[in-house]
Amino acid sequence: MSTRSITTAAVAALALSLSLTACGQSSEGGSKEDKDSKSAKDMTVGIAMPTKSSERWIADGKNMVAQLKGHGYQTTLQYAEDDTDQQVSQIENMITQGVDALVIAAIDGRALSNVLQQAADADIPVVSYDRLILGSENVDYYASFDNEKVGELQGTYIVDKLGLKDGSEKGPFNLELFAGSNDDNNTRYFFQGAMNVLKPYIDDKKLVVRSKQTKINQVTTLRWDGGTAQKRMDDLLTSSYSKERVDAVLSPYDGISIGILSALKSDDYGSKSKPLPVVTGQDAEALSVASIVKGEQTQTVFKDTRELAKVGANMVDALLNGKKPEVNDTETYDNEKKVVPSYLLDPVSVDKDNYRPVLIDSGYLKESDLK
Ligand code: GAL
Repeated sequence: MSTRSITTAAVAALALSLSLTACGQSSEGGSKEDKDSKSAKDMTVGIAMPTKSSERWIADGKNMVAQLKGHGYQTTLQYAEDDTDQQVSQIENMITQGVDALVIAAIDGRALSNVLQQAADADIPVVSYDRLILGSENVDYYASFDNEKVGELQGTYIVDKLGLKDGSEKGPFNLELFAGSNDDNNTRYFFQGAMNVLKPYIDDKKLVVRSKQTKINQVTTLRWDGGTAQKRMDDLLTSSYSKERVDAVLSPYDGISIGILSALKSDDYGSKSKPLPVVTGQDAEALSVASIVKGEQTQTVFKDTRELAKVGANMVDALLNGKKPEVNDTETYDNEKKVVPSYLLDPVSVDKDNYRPVLIDSGYLKESDLK
């Protein structure tokens, strides 16, 4: 064999071994090996979102895709229309298709243990997005907001607006309480945060909950559904407010606030002789911000989903590159199997006075969205 043909054979052998490695067929095999040798453009991140029925989750999905694409990854995005079984099967399919990482905003925080075991067996890292996944050790990181602070902002808004905090009004004022879905871990943080502020006034009888429904399990709203909240507010008005007037309603989320406001308006609240109560909210959804501008809903809590998507995508990128994601909280979010390292962003209270600088000037919403 000539020197030239030996060299050619060696080059061919080297090329073959390189291409096998690139295909993930190194002698050791396994998905971890594959990830180590794959570049971002050859990796896909599966994103499981709860529902398209709320603008915020549509924005979250779009922002996650854009952020991950910015890091060079492929993405697959699925919405499960608030159906837990559908979400489980979507995640199962993503695992079967060989995604390299998962980002999940759970519908039911406790329904994913089996499917997350499958993800762990396939060596797929999992980022819990906005809502903490409970009861599974196979949750690597959590990207969210300071959820207790969300509730504190809502509670504080109520006591400020009624004039109780600065003592300009003594009360008593009538208050009713709503909480989110009982299968969402965030619900108890929001409620706890609000009650930290409201309870002392309830204990002092400056705030009176005429329905007497003050325990979280009496005031939750399954799947955050506005219609369910409307029905409960209708029932409360009938049972407890035939003579009295409601002065404030703690609402944890804009979709729930819309239901509450419909019930109030059907009972003549918002007319000259019967002003609407203070009604809080969360998510700064366009419909609710429009309602705030019109003087119906009073407040919302803005959580910048653009920033959340950045945090989520940075976590995925670090995990797929064998690095430690940046976190700022390693104590708060215990999912009953472990404390999940978290990055928590800051929520901002928004009302008629600051919606322009916070939401419009930052480009989160356009004035023309507020119809
Ligand atoms: C919560 C989330 C809130 C709101 C709610 C209903 O988990 O933190 O911002 O979106 O779900 O979708």
